[in-house]
Amino acid sequence: SWSTGNIIEEQIELIRAQVGDGKALCGLSGGVDSAVAAALVQRAIGDRLTCVLVDHGLMRQDEVEQVEKDYVAATGVKLHVARESDRFLSALAGVSDPEAKRKAIGREFIRAFEAAEEHVLRAEAADGKPVQFLVQGTLYPDVVESGGGEGAANIKSHHNVGGLPEDLQFELVEPLRQLFKDEVRAVGRELGLPENIVGRQPFPGPGLGIRIIGEVTEERLDILRRADAIAREELTRAGLDDDVWQMPVVLLADVRSVGVQGDGRTYGHPIVLRPVSSEDAMTADWSRLPSELLAKISNRITNEVEEINRVVLDVTSKPPGTIEWE
Ligand code: XMP
Repeated sequence: SWSTGNIIEEQIELIRAQVGDGKALCGLSGGVDSAVAAALVQRAIGDRLTCVLVDHGLMRQDEVEQVEKDYVAATGVKLHVARESDRFLSALAGVSDPEAKRKAIGREFIRAFEAAEEHVLRAEAADGKPVQFLVQGTLYPDVVESGGGEGAANIKSHHNVGGLPEDLQFELVEPLRQLFKDEVRAVGRELGLPENIVGRQPFPGPGLGIRIIGEVTEERLDILRRADAIAREELTRAGLDDDVWQMPVVLLADVRSVGVQGDGRTYGHPIVLRPVSSEDAMTADWSRLPSELLAKISNRITNEVEEINRVVLDVTSKPPGTIEWE
């Protein structure tokens, strides 16, 4: 039968056959997929794998520190953190089209990996040899929805599928390419990754960059980051993390509406809550969260994040809506 153990053994053999005695680097995004892909490759080639966490400035609050701490503690993997927010913010300046954002982010990821490879990994390697392989946590649904599957339309260019430059210097290793999320989680558990990593809700590689509708700026990221942290904190406090697949929080940065606070008029931005339930992210339904929880999130966000004066709930299933707004 096609058990988790089989998947692991088969993939480890395929990875060894592909990489030989070469070296690989794996980008960690803070999400489940890259964490599991890295753990598989580490199992296959040991410390010839180095993980690179590209801090693109599009992460959620405390996320970089969490990966630095939890993942390294759990796996003992070699990790290099590349501080690259300037690179990403410049590439995103003036860009508001969703596909253009995704492609720009995908391209800068590769540039950031190349820079880390050349200036850090190769520079520090005893043999001075380059890293030839790049591990990505691409899943089957990513391939299908990026137009990689047979007869499939390109719905979105997932950053790690549709945005790769022509002159890529790495050969890709994608051990999860045939798997769905629940299988990936099972593989991660079997490999001994802790629940706070495997059970984590999905978060897209392009990060908060595709949760700001409009141009991405540092100021807007800061607003979204604060609102998102409140929404996640309250969901966790209500004990509902396992009941939702994920809950994107989306900033409608180019929209303003009139509000009132105290005796004053406000003219602020709306925030969208997008809680969904799903099996594999190919289809989804909006989650019926308790109204007291929604009220709590709304009150806290409008009280604590000055720039936000309205919180709205997305009640669209997928299809026709996708989970992320971009
Ligand atoms: P959509 O918005 O297409 O999202 O319904 C389906 C699932 O994929 C996640 N997602 C991404 N994950 N890179 C990723 O690693 C991406 O570019 C990307 N875009 C969307 C999304 O959060 C949801 O879980």
